[in-house]
Amino acid sequence: MSETESPDIKNTGGGVLLFLFVLFAGMFALVMSRRHSESYKVPEFSVDGADLNQFNYTKVNHTISYNLTLNVTLTNPNTIIYFELSDVQVTARYQNNRFGPVTLMNSSTTPFLQGPKNTTIFQNVVVQGHSKTLLFDRQPMNADQIYNIGVEIAFREKFGRMCGEVICNLKLPLMSFNRTSWDRYNTTKCSKV
Ligand SMILES: *[C@@H]1O[C@H](CO)[C@@H](O)[C@H](O)[C@H]1NC(C)=O
Ligand SMILES: *[C@@H]1O[C@H](CO)[C@@H](O)[C@H](O)[C@H]1NC(C)=O
Ligand SMILES: *[C@@H]1O[C@H](CO)[C@@H](O)[C@H](O)[C@H]1NC(C)=O
Ligand SMILES: *[C@@H]1O[C@H](CO)[C@@H](O)[C@H](O)[C@H]1NC(C)=O
Ligand SMILES: *[C@@H]1O[C@H](CO)[C@@H](O)[C@H](O)[C@H]1NC(C)=O
Ligand SMILES: *[C@@H]1O[C@H](CO)[C@@H](O)[C@H](O)[C@H]1NC(C)=O
Ligand SMILES: *[C@@H]1O[C@H](CO)[C@@H](O)[C@H](O)[C@H]1NC(C)=O
Ligand SMILES: *[C@@H]1O[C@H](CO)[C@@H](O)[C@H](O)[C@H]1NC(C)=O
Repeated sequence: MSETESPDIKNTGGGVLLFLFVLFAGMFALVMSRRHSESYKVPEFSVDGADLNQFNYTKVNHTISYNLTLNVTLTNPNTIIYFELSDVQVTARYQNNRFGPVTLMNSSTTPFLQGPKNTTIFQNVVVQGHSKTLLFDRQPMNADQIYNIGVEIAFREKFGRMCGEVICNLKLPLMSFNRTSWDRYNTTKCSKV
């Protein structure tokens, strides 16, 4: 009797294992197919705060001193895919002049994972320094002038093997300018270049 029972039990054990294997294989296939069925959407960036603290041109040495503080928001618009960003750099442009770049993350910093439908805010990214320039517009830089500054964000993302660059076109008065409620800064979405 016991001789006939043991193969039975073994069979049931094998059946359970097989069932579990099929279940896991099925779930894995489902996850992978969903992952593939979702078309990859690129990282989205916006600037939701910007202060132009300093933007002075010194004629004698053709030098611009600048200090621009930014709040940059990164959004992963995908529902399943994680972003793995290994490089993010911010550069500001005014006419033909480049300011920066400022590194938000690179290959030597810890890998950055951005979950699906999630956002990260890089607070108070400071783009500041001195830049030599020979080409500069003839308009004097007055305190009440609104400057058209382009903020370029270059990024590298592993999963989509994406290298991309977006630009956010900002219109900024100097911080020292007596600002009224109408010129409080509004969020600017960045678009692909
Ligand atoms: C960035 O966000 C922080 C927190 O909301 C705020 O205190 C700061 O003033 C913002 N900076 C800029 C440049 O908008
Ligand atoms: C920038 O220029 C303004 C006006 O000319 C001046 O008041 C201010 O001190 C300058 N700032 C710096 C840091 O040079
Ligand atoms: C340019 O000149 C200004 C005023 O003399 C000085 O404050 C600034 O440090 C100079 N910049 C450079 C890069 O030499
Ligand atoms: C740039 O501006 C920020 C905000 O006003 C300030 O905290 C920072 O010290 C400035 N940096 C330089 C180098 O002036
Ligand atoms: C990575 O960024 C850090 C600052 O965040 C910088 O000190 C370092 O030099 C950068 N490394 C490379 C390889 O660019
Ligand atoms: C979004 O990211 C933050 C920080 O990485 C994490 O704490 C939070 O749980 C995430 N939210 C979702 C919905 O994944
Ligand atoms: C800013 O401007 C308003 C009206 O234009 C004025 O009443 C106020 O005193 C000004 N504030 C400063 C600090 O200059
Ligand atoms: C910010 O948005 C409000 C409402 O849409 C608009 O009235 C205002 O002019 C905008 N300000 C700037 C500086 O673009």
